[in-house]
Amino acid sequence: MKIGILSSGGDCPGINATIRGVGKTAIMHYNMEVIGIHSGFSGIIEKDIQEFDEQTLSGILNLGGTILGTSREKPLRKQLEIPESEKAEIIRRNYKELGLDCVVCIGGNGTQKTANVLVNLGLNVIGVPKTIDNDIWGTDITFGFDTAVNIATGAIDRLHSTASSHKRVMVVEVMGHHAGWIALYAGMAGGADVILLPELGYDMEIVTNMIWERAKKGKPYSIVVIAEGIDSPNRKRPVDYITKQIEAVTGIETRETVLGYIQRGGNPSPFDRNLATRLGGHATELIANKQFGRMVCMKGDTVESIPLSEVAGKLKLVTHEHDLIKQGERMGISFGK
Ligand code: F6P
Repeated sequence: MKIGILSSGGDCPGINATIRGVGKTAIMHYNMEVIGIHSGFSGIIEKDIQEFDEQTLSGILNLGGTILGTSREKPLRKQLEIPESEKAEIIRRNYKELGLDCVVCIGGNGTQKTANVLVNLGLNVIGVPKTIDNDIWGTDITFGFDTAVNIATGAIDRLHSTASSHKRVMVVEVMGHHAGWIALYAGMAGGADVILLPELGYDMEIVTNMIWERAKKGKPYSIVVIAEGIDSPNRKRPVDYITKQIEAVTGIETRETVLGYIQRGGNPSPFDRNLATRLGGHATELIANKQFGRMVCMKGDTVESIPLSEVAGKLKLVTHEHDLIKQGERMGISFGK
């Protein structure tokens, strides 16, 4: 068999470990041919590819980013100046001309949705979930998340010293437009006093009261962790709004820190390397067994797969019932409600 691998959407620690997991299993265990497709789905349209062998897949396990390059191109939307119907035809034709038996699509929610569109075009496709946001429906965890939580927690740890030395409130913004998984896990691990998630909403008065109560108890320093996607009035960046409100209402000096892309750069954690390797290997096993149209996923510590059609268009969000939130509330941590 001959397979293609592409990565699409934002980069994320663990993509290269996945490429290696898929590719080496394919070449060494199943005797398949493997090509890499550059820059996401646009690489299929432009036939921008490279051959993979054992050598080219060596030395990439611990590399951040993706050796294939990535893009947010949605091939069946109006991009690349080619009409949609023609693009579908180009994709089918190039897939055939490249002699592919399957394309492995490594990516987040958007990628899995597009992968399902390719299934409907008649292509054999396997999805591998990837995102630091951990918000892909159907899998308990995605690689990249553990690395991002480690980076964010390390940053929060470092902010504690300024908070306590200067008696300040430190507001830290972490990634997560729709889902607050990084804020929840890094906030709890970093000992935050307030954690705000897009899914739960928040009441500003509860947040400022909590900080004021701490000050009255002799703790004029607090750590507030917010996800970038929380609501804020007047289209202000949430981190600016929260910082200004806290300072204005409590009178305590308040500073902001935005972690940004640092959270998804650099080497994957050992946990993410192994997760990516297992998911990659299982993707190849599905191909060998001709079980196409599926996304590999984790259920507890078991690698499984589900139909891409079940994943497409859904998100895995934090709920108020999450054990870490319940436990946080029992210890006086505020989630803004
Ligand atoms: O990878 C997911 C994510 O990191 C989000 O949390 C973030 O908002 C988004 O990607 C931003 O990525 P880009 O600027 O590359 O579109």
